[in-house]
Amino acid sequence: MSRRPFVAGNWKMHKTSSEAGPFVRDLAGRVPGHVDAAVCVPFTDLAAAVEAAAGSALKVYAQNMHQAEQGAFTGEVSAAMLLDLGVDGVLIGHSERRQYFAETDEALQAKLAAAHAAGLDVILAVGETEAERESGQTEAVLRRQVETAFAGLAEDAAAATTVAYEPVWAIGTGKTATPEMAQAAHAFIRGLFPAGVGDRVRIQYGGSMKPDNAAQLLAQPDIDGGLIGGASLEVEPFLAILAAAP
Ligand code: PGA
Repeated sequence: MSRRPFVAGNWKMHKTSSEAGPFVRDLAGRVPGHVDAAVCVPFTDLAAAVEAAAGSALKVYAQNMHQAEQGAFTGEVSAAMLLDLGVDGVLIGHSERRQYFAETDEALQAKLAAAHAAGLDVILAVGETEAERESGQTEAVLRRQVETAFAGLAEDAAAATTVAYEPVWAIGTGKTATPEMAQAAHAFIRGLFPAGVGDRVRIQYGGSMKPDNAAQLLAQPDIDGGLIGGASLEVEPFLAILAAAP
């Protein structure tokens, strides 16, 4: 089964709304036709990014959402609020949210279901820490993260979800997983899904993907794209990674 490559930028807490508009306008006009592309931007940049990407192939994603439809959750944002702005999708489960904001696998299960029910596209990030890898826990951690988040989700929604495999020790460190190491983790993740779902799910690699290592990673059979942090903050390196997708 051939899966269309999907490369997303994760800006994290970078760029103001005034910076986001011109940046996205420039990028949106230059996305190559052979790849799906998205930017995951701060909440305050969403409106400007949606306006700047209008009419282009570039998708705009939020970096988090709350699972409830509405309610007394000060500081949170719902799927309906994102959709009303014209946002295409949402990144959930990034390791920084798990580590610094107490995001749990159980909350992610609810967020994944709520995002799909609302009609948002979803990237779910998973990945092991350095200590977990060194103690031989990588597969157990990935299994727990994937199986808990996807529990109870209908097969078509599961197949339409993008998983981002991001080894925590490779994020923002310049230490990339080798293509072989990443491929092994991706194949393992794909195998956690039932037949007929696993071959449709797109799995991105994330963690210090740059223009000079992207082609080798993206050439692996189970690596369907990338989730790009640092190298997505400027247009040229991000475009170079898009161009490196097979
Ligand atoms: P990085 O971040 O590319 O800067 O390592 C990736 C991510 O955290 O999504």
